[in-house]
Amino acid sequence: EKGTYPHYMLKEMDEQPTVIRKIIQAYEQGEDVTIDADILNAIAEADRLYIIAAGTSYHAGLIGKQYFEKIAKIPVEVHISSEFGYNMPLLSEKPLFIFISQSGETADSRQVLVKIKELGYKALTVTNVPGSTLSREADYTLLLHAGPEIAVASTKAYVAQVAVLAVAAYAVAKQKGITLDFDLKQELAIVANGIQAMVDSKDVMEQIAEDFLKIARNAFFIGRNMDFCVSLEGALKLKEISYIQAEGFAGGELKHGTIALIEEGTPVFALATQKDVALNIRGNVKEVVARGANACIIAMEGMEEEGDRLVIPRVHELLTPLVSVVPLQLISYYAALHRRCDVDKPRNLAKSVTVE
Ligand code: F6R
Repeated sequence: EKGTYPHYMLKEMDEQPTVIRKIIQAYEQGEDVTIDADILNAIAEADRLYIIAAGTSYHAGLIGKQYFEKIAKIPVEVHISSEFGYNMPLLSEKPLFIFISQSGETADSRQVLVKIKELGYKALTVTNVPGSTLSREADYTLLLHAGPEIAVASTKAYVAQVAVLAVAAYAVAKQKGITLDFDLKQELAIVANGIQAMVDSKDVMEQIAEDFLKIARNAFFIGRNMDFCVSLEGALKLKEISYIQAEGFAGGELKHGTIALIEEGTPVFALATQKDVALNIRGNVKEVVARGANACIIAMEGMEEEGDRLVIPRVHELLTPLVSVVPLQLISYYAALHRRCDVDKPRNLAKSVTVE
């Protein structure tokens, strides 16, 4: 039930700190967070992971790739399920497939699962719905513990997916004896507080939506490294609920063509949470501002500069997507409200896409 909330989406965004805390609880073992030993072994034995997903879950998969590669040192490919189904890449010797799906019912993903099972490969499903088709048909399941997600636009399931993938990569790294310089359980608790601060700043997000998107026809989201992955998700959220045409871009790629679309007043949301590329993304912002863009810089605490529109609380650099996505969700929500869109049930969309 949405109780006193006007929309499920708003309620579900508000639940995000709790979701992170639930994930900590569900996966904690003593002082650490970990996953079942059989899943740990299945991942650790693979020579390459193939993440298969659609939409928002695909965007979570892009972050998951970074976790498995950077934390657990396992190579990963991320594929859009509908493409993989028809255009399978050359597979490694010992692949493990990871399906990411909030609903566990997405037909495009299920088709890939059926195919790879026929080929004799093992699969792990990361889903919010116990007993869902993708969960039943896979060898292993990791649950998101996000609670039912009713709004069509996925919010809390995305942060749950990213967090669970972080737990899995961290657990595998520990199993492999890789030395890690952070304590994920502690860092996730900090993330929960960071998300809380963001959902408590709704008036700020509403004002940003008003200042940048009130009359916008289109919008761009840019970022580098992890911020690029989050930019893709920010653009998708805005498109699906406000119908404003939006694109997420790697900061460095914009100038290779798309910058032609920047006009006087074009909104550009730029994320600056990644230290190594902070200067570069700020350079990209200057490029678009010089062409008239209305730039909204969202920076992480400690990296902010004068003129930045929003500062997000400091969290571990690998976990920034969990916090930076939240203002983008909220900005999309308020942009959709301003346009009197049906936030929970956008046109042309269904919560679970069970057709090909
Ligand atoms: C976006 C959204 C969709 C889903 C996609 C995959 O907000 O909801 O893009 O993410 O249809 O759905 P699942 O994760 O259920 O497989």
